[in-house]
Amino acid sequence: MKAPRGAADVLPPTSDLYEGVIRTSEDLFRLYGYRRIETPVFEHTEVFERGLDEASAMVTKEMYTFLDRSGRSMTLRPEGTAPVVRAVIEHHLDREGLPVKLYYTAPMFRYERPQAGRRRQHTQVGVEAVGSEAPEVDAEVVALASAVFRQVGLAQVRLLLNSVGHSGCRSVYLPKLIEFLEGYGQELCTDCRRKTGANPLRTFDCKVEKDREILSGAPLITDYLCGSCADHLDAVQGLLTSCGVTFIVEPRLVRGLDYYTRTAFEFQAAGLGAQNAVGGGGRYDGLAELLGGGRVPGIGFGLGVERIAEAIETQGAQRAGALDVFIVSVGEDTRRGAFSLAMQLRGEGISCDLDFSGRPVKGQFKAADRLGAARVVVIGERELAEGRYTVRDMSSGEETPVAADELFSYLRGKR
Ligand code: HAM
Repeated sequence: MKAPRGAADVLPPTSDLYEGVIRTSEDLFRLYGYRRIETPVFEHTEVFERGLDEASAMVTKEMYTFLDRSGRSMTLRPEGTAPVVRAVIEHHLDREGLPVKLYYTAPMFRYERPQAGRRRQHTQVGVEAVGSEAPEVDAEVVALASAVFRQVGLAQVRLLLNSVGHSGCRSVYLPKLIEFLEGYGQELCTDCRRKTGANPLRTFDCKVEKDREILSGAPLITDYLCGSCADHLDAVQGLLTSCGVTFIVEPRLVRGLDYYTRTAFEFQAAGLGAQNAVGGGGRYDGLAELLGGGRVPGIGFGLGVERIAEAIETQGAQRAGALDVFIVSVGEDTRRGAFSLAMQLRGEGISCDLDFSGRPVKGQFKAADRLGAARVVVIGERELAEGRYTVRDMSSGEETPVAADELFSYLRGKR
């Protein structure tokens, strides 16, 4: 039997990499004052139908929707924002000090055609700051996502920033865009002709070269922003620049979800091919109302853990070893000493593993390598008698004798 198409088992060492990305993200989220929220893996289907727009591709084609045993329509969460806003309204979190700052690490389910970088189950780390329209919140959210990429060691990531305005700006802009698209009639691909009627902004996502050329002359939303949306975008840009976040303003950036208002952004990583978005987000000032709440603005992002891990591998970013130490014991009589040293190291917070099956030294070094150990501590009879260990750095191969009573501080300093 096999795992379902588009859903994968995550095994070591890939799972180490995922864990590293998740840990780094969550540590940063907490550093910025966000707290964890967990919502159910499935929701009443209305949460997504109303939140993401019933006519959108995600709702009509990509949701895992089923009737439960009492005939209620349920949907496996395709994205994290609508459930979080649903929870904020349900538990009246919007009555407390605002914004409410929440983060999550959660699996998402989308019935998409699987391809490199696109799965039917993927994991997002994300944040939502609900209850404020202040551009400082936008800047904080975007800067936080940038910090995640920097911290996991991804150097080649570009940040695209746009404002899609509020509904008023779009009601002026969209007729202009439709008029432009209709002017090209049959010259556009069938998909773009269909989108012209259904969701004209999405034509900017078209990958057909000829259409892209036509679209390069299309009217841009940024030219149709009302005064307050334009000021908001200006403020966000100024704040990002002042905290050293580099970005490219891309007025053709449209995101795959329909709830966005004003700020929209996406991070794209080099070396990933067509599915190069490693994260994205934006403001959703109308979403709470769609879900039956009051007017509660919000902004957040979701980052794709699998794509970030893939980018780390293709960009050859440095990654931390999965294990601090592997203990290699030489000779039968040292096994007990190795076991007790392992327990002591773990007690000191140094991650550690050792051989349990009496393998020869060479086999133990191989195991250390396979487990991604940063260092090997060798215990032989001589080492035990002389009260010192040999510590080998697994990346440089360098060996250092370390006195037994200095081992913990030596290893701690090296972590
Ligand atoms: P999204 O752009 O649909 O946004 O997804 C966020 C990230 O999840 C993407 O940039 C990508 O890295 C990853 N991702 C999406 N679909 C797949 C897939 N099929 N396979 C692998 N990775 C995938 C959202 O979901 C919004 N809820 C983000 C947000 C939060 N906006 C505001 N707050």
